[in-house]
Amino acid sequence: MTSDVITSIPLVRDRVTEARRARRRIGLVPTMGALHAGHKRLIDLARAENDLVIVSIFVNPLQFDRPEDLEKYPRALQADADVCAAAGVDVVFAPPVAEMYPEPLDCAIDVGRVAEHLCGRFRPGHFRGVATVVMKLFQIAQPDRAYFGEKDAQQLAVIRRMVADFNVPIEIVGVPTVREPDGLALSSRNQRLQPGERRAATVLYEALKVASAQVAGGVRDAAGVRQAARQVVEREPAVRLEYLEIVEPREMQPVEHIDGPVIAAGAIWVGGTRLIDNMICVPP
Ligand code: PAJ
Repeated sequence: MTSDVITSIPLVRDRVTEARRARRRIGLVPTMGALHAGHKRLIDLARAENDLVIVSIFVNPLQFDRPEDLEKYPRALQADADVCAAAGVDVVFAPPVAEMYPEPLDCAIDVGRVAEHLCGRFRPGHFRGVATVVMKLFQIAQPDRAYFGEKDAQQLAVIRRMVADFNVPIEIVGVPTVREPDGLALSSRNQRLQPGERRAATVLYEALKVASAQVAGGVRDAAGVRQAARQVVEREPAVRLEYLEIVEPREMQPVEHIDGPVIAAGAIWVGGTRLIDNMICVPP
């Protein structure tokens, strides 16, 4: 089986209009490509729950805060199309930048509190770029459901908030993080790690596990949990900690006292590569 690779918005729209007319349910999986088993988990769920599955592959310049990250971002359209075909995807939507942004946008989605901390604090404009491109993709693909990974917990919270605030009639489905056997969360950026860096990168997962175990063990003081987790990262000399915070899951605000499920979320630099991960921590 092959998937149709479509690069133009009107041609995707034709498929969408036809599917909606036939009352077929549309599932959208937005991605930036270099597809791995994490993306595949989203695609498989979309395939199981919908009639027409659209995977978008678009490295969105609007959400990159560093030009070298955009430049170095892995691109593998042919391999991605093969992954999609094997997974039974109907349409791969892979527009060039000029198709999505024929002229500089004059309007954008402004994100407030939910983007204040964590990645939002260290990547100015990032979530504005994410929310804006996802809103465009929603308008183009008009899905019934859209699939996002819990790996990017703040992104998922931003999208949920945007959909609530703008009454967007799309069900947002969150999908658990897919990990390597040693715990490292799958990421397209893992490809850039040298072997020594790859080994060191698991320290973030180890730190999040410490946080989760402390919370499960009844520790209620978020500062203490955060400190214990930070110390794990700080023991690894090949890694620089950008942030590690304990936040509530809806608006991603740091908490002081843990009295319900919280998310431990962190970002690290391993050489020139920035990696993020998070874990839900549930008190007893
Ligand atoms: P990208 O990083 O390609 O990720 C696409 C989707 O796959 C996101 O929803 C992300 O959370 C999910 N994902 C990535 N790694 C995962 C893993 N290990 N386990 C489970 N899900 C995983 O996120 C983006 O692209 C972009 O910001 C996008 C939403 C496409 C907007 O440009």
